[in-house]
Amino acid sequence: MSNEDKYTALTQEVERLKLQILRQKKLADAGVLLYSVVHEIRNPTNFIGNFARLNTEIIESDLMAVINDFSKQLPKDFSNDFSEIISILLSNNNKIINHFRRLETTIDSTLSQAPEKKLENKNFELTKLISLSHKLSYHSYMTKNKHLPVAFEQNSFAPEINLLGNPNELQRVFINLFSNAFHALMKKTKSMTAEFNPMLTVNIVLENKKEILIRIRDNGTGIKKSYINRLFEPFFTTKKAEEGTGLGLYLSKEIIEKQFGGKLLVNSSLGEYTCFEILLTPEILLGS
Ligand SMILES: Nc1ncnc2c1ncn2[C@@H]1O[C@H](COP(=O)(O)OP(=O)(O)OP(=O)(O)O)[C@@H](O)[C@H]1O
Ligand SMILES: [Mg+2]
Repeated sequence: MSNEDKYTALTQEVERLKLQILRQKKLADAGVLLYSVVHEIRNPTNFIGNFARLNTEIIESDLMAVINDFSKQLPKDFSNDFSEIISILLSNNNKIINHFRRLETTIDSTLSQAPEKKLENKNFELTKLISLSHKLSYHSYMTKNKHLPVAFEQNSFAPEINLLGNPNELQRVFINLFSNAFHALMKKTKSMTAEFNPMLTVNIVLENKKEILIRIRDNGTGIKKSYINRLFEPFFTTKKAEEGTGLGLYLSKEIIEKQFGGKLLVNSSLGEYTCFEILLTPEILLGS
């Protein structure tokens, strides 16, 4: 390669990196904006829900009591019309309450994923944290959905891996990744006619004798190639509104990169498997 070619290649690489930084900054700003907006929406949303519930109570008790008191004095047609109007009002009100509940779930799940402001680092043991995160997410996913037996396997290069950092944040990442895996396994189970054994495996290996690599693999639906580059964008989701907000992976990447100085990567084959890789830097490994 001539010097001129090298120079052009380097300039192109610099431009690419500049764009990447700009894009990441925009995504981070979008995240901060999102939390403030969702926070602001929470109060008025609660008002809508509470007043809708109150309306139902007023219609069902007070208004019905008044109508019953006067029903004998009213012409029959009139009281029939009245009952019809009331049942329409109640049904509309129920629709408002149902939509309110959906909105409430989205708001709560978005806020629960917001990064904690004050983070304290402490010592924790990685294999135990993964087992606990698995138990929590399995229980939570299976109680909300139809039960699905998923084989779980966890292998590690050492029985104990002591780390320094914020375990709650790392737990949040594992829970996000495990819940995504359960969702994909459930979806594949529903679409399969042949026998299928849903599996989730976690492998912890020591890379280049210093970095910790955690591989989380499921044999679920896999991910379309055209989606792979969009997975870590905020709000990217293929799930129904009540099933996901599209923030799990975006926040997981933020946590791994910003709080642990690591990397979160993915590879997948559609219909076969999805594998997320968390690469942690040696600095957080204690006693190394
Ligand atoms: N293990 C997986 N198998 C198949 N698809 C996956 C897997 N993990 C993530 N995805 C895809 O990536 C998308 C984004 O995931 P992400 O966790 O960011 O959001 P979500 O799960 O849709 O919603 P949220 O996590 O906010 O509840 C998912 O909607 C899904 O399409
Ligand atoms: Mg998710």
